Amino acid sequence: MKTKHWIVDNLEHVTKNSPQIVQAAELLKKNELVAFPTETVYGLGANAKSDEAVAKIYSAKGRPSDNPLIIHIAKKEQLTEIVDSYPDWIDPLIDRFWPGPLTLVLPKKEGLSNLATAGLSTVAVRMPDHPAALALIEAANLPIAAPSANLSGKPSPTSVKHVMDDLEGRIPGIVDAGPTGLGVESTVLDCTEDIPVILRPGSVTKQQLEEVIGSVRIDAALLNQEELPKAPGMKYTHYAPDAPLTIVDGSKEFIEQLIQKEKEKEKKVGVLTTEENSRFYSADKIVVCGKRSDLRTVASALYDSLRKFNEEQLDVLFSEAFPAEGVGQAIMNRLLKAASHRIIKER
Ligand code: TXA
Ligand code: MG
Repeated sequence: MKTKHWIVDNLEHVTKNSPQIVQAAELLKKNELVAFPTETVYGLGANAKSDEAVAKIYSAKGRPSDNPLIIHIAKKEQLTEIVDSYPDWIDPLIDRFWPGPLTLVLPKKEGLSNLATAGLSTVAVRMPDHPAALALIEAANLPIAAPSANLSGKPSPTSVKHVMDDLEGRIPGIVDAGPTGLGVESTVLDCTEDIPVILRPGSVTKQQLEEVIGSVRIDAALLNQEELPKAPGMKYTHYAPDAPLTIVDGSKEFIEQLIQKEKEKEKKVGVLTTEENSRFYSADKIVVCGKRSDLRTVASALYDSLRKFNEEQLDVLFSEAFPAEGVGQAIMNRLLKAASHRIIKER
């Protein structure tokens, strides 16, 4: 199939009546797939009420069907369509963070595709902070199931090029509104326990959540590899570039020594670094991923950086480590997955 592009170049004026949005929404209503931008990454959307539509997501992405999807809504009223009653402390979270990169796991109501929720009794839901996404969901007038619009296992897509590299010809259409902003996916918060649990760290940090609702826990599996994660998707290998990646928790001098050792063995070496340190290394490919002094820029560039390593044949990749605080927690979570948890610490 040919993948149709609906270009939205004026984000200030996009509405549910914009012709591109109306056409894209028509496809969603016909249970077809549409990729669309959010403030985090591009999503691959389908009618969340239809098994037929949702099955197409799993097959286009090659995604295991025990990994449930996030349901995207445009208005708070849509919540009552998909979730059962929920505790009062949820409302302040919604008021503070929606639209935005916070996904809430809540008790599910009947009526959604069981495929979308992988048969669980809970549902993950969020309201994306992107005018084209909100316009599309409103125009379709449906809850929209949407995982990241990449092939399963690849880094999530932060540009139309990333989506096309993975899914061109496999999906009927994409709403093209340029690169996304935040880069790492939404924070997933399980709200079905007395103390809410972060199942996936993201742009909304633990500290920001605690400012609104008090104590928040972090899923034990994120801290300890032996535990099985509660978000089914967190157990899969993800984000991995073609060459094996190792994170190096140490000085740039130490990283440069590792690079030189590999080069002596005739290996082609790549390094993921930041603006501050990039001049320091002798690697064959140096990928600059934002500024260390502002971790938001690292989060925003991370997936594009990981994909850049696949532009040429490399044998070994090293990445600098980042402090796992604030958005750094999400960055290190994704990097560790990309590295299959290989990490070298300088003594
Ligand atoms: O920023 C984002 O969240 C992006 C954009 C497109 O919205 N979406 C995204 O979706 O990252 P996906 O499918 O790549 O990741 C969804 C995560 C997975 O780890 C999945 O296991 C978890 O959410 N999840 C979904 N439903 C769940 C549930 N009922 N209980 C626990 N975890 C759930
Ligand atoms: Mg994903």
